[in-house]
Amino acid sequence: MTMRSRTTVFATLFMLLSGIPALAQYSHIAPSDDGIGEVYMGREIAHVMGHEGADWLERPERITEEQPDRVIDAMQLKPTDVVADIGAGTGYFSIRIARKVPQGSVIGEDIQPEMIDLMHDSIARAGVGNVRPLLGTTDDPHLPPGSVDKVLLVDAYHEFDQPLEMMRGIINGLKPDGQVVFVEYRGEDPSVPILPHHKMTEAQLSKEMSAVGLHLVWRYEELPWQHVLIYSR
Ligand SMILES: C[S@@+](CC[C@H](N)C(=O)[O-])C[C@H]1O[C@@H](n2cnc3c(N)ncnc32)[C@H](O)[C@@H]1O
Repeated sequence: MTMRSRTTVFATLFMLLSGIPALAQYSHIAPSDDGIGEVYMGREIAHVMGHEGADWLERPERITEEQPDRVIDAMQLKPTDVVADIGAGTGYFSIRIARKVPQGSVIGEDIQPEMIDLMHDSIARAGVGNVRPLLGTTDDPHLPPGSVDKVLLVDAYHEFDQPLEMMRGIINGLKPDGQVVFVEYRGEDPSVPILPHHKMTEAQLSKEMSAVGLHLVWRYEELPWQHVLIYSR
């Protein structure tokens, strides 16, 4: 075997083997009504909320049900912060955050082009100049490396069909002292009126975050239905 062909064999083997750990993280079952049948660390991943349901994200009752101003207070933002709103949908949170970081900026990322279009409309209506909509992929939010102070994920993480790859991309985009803020419907509470796979327990989320090297630094439990759980390296 020549030196060149030996190198090719080693390179091919490396590529095959390096994909195995990620693939091995996911297994498959018969899908539940609100799940996709793919299991990650004991949790069935939920369906993606389609852009057809975008009006639900902008419903007036959301102010009392989810209290977005309290979520944003819990993020303890500085006026210069760069924030990434991952799975931003119509930009409901991106626009509210933009007003709290007048010298900073917000990246509003989503995988649905239709949501990105709706986000552009929301930005124009709100007249904010520091939100940048960004189309990502299901395995990569495409954040600039080491650029973000806070990442916010509201009601989105449980829908990621490649959560491990997404979290690696998010962590790659974080500054060294950056934080990741999750807002998830409380999976421990059966009275929260949300489909089961669209909720998350704190124990499950902390287990999944420890697999990517993040630990819980703060929790805010004053919302009617949701956890606010903040993680860092
Ligand atoms: C229930 S909506 C929440 C939207 C927004 N965070 C809010 O609270 O108004 C979930 C969003 O996550 C997005 N999403 C699902 N999987 C994603 C992924 N892998 N990367 C980025 N966004 C994703 C969906 O397209 C959808 O817009």
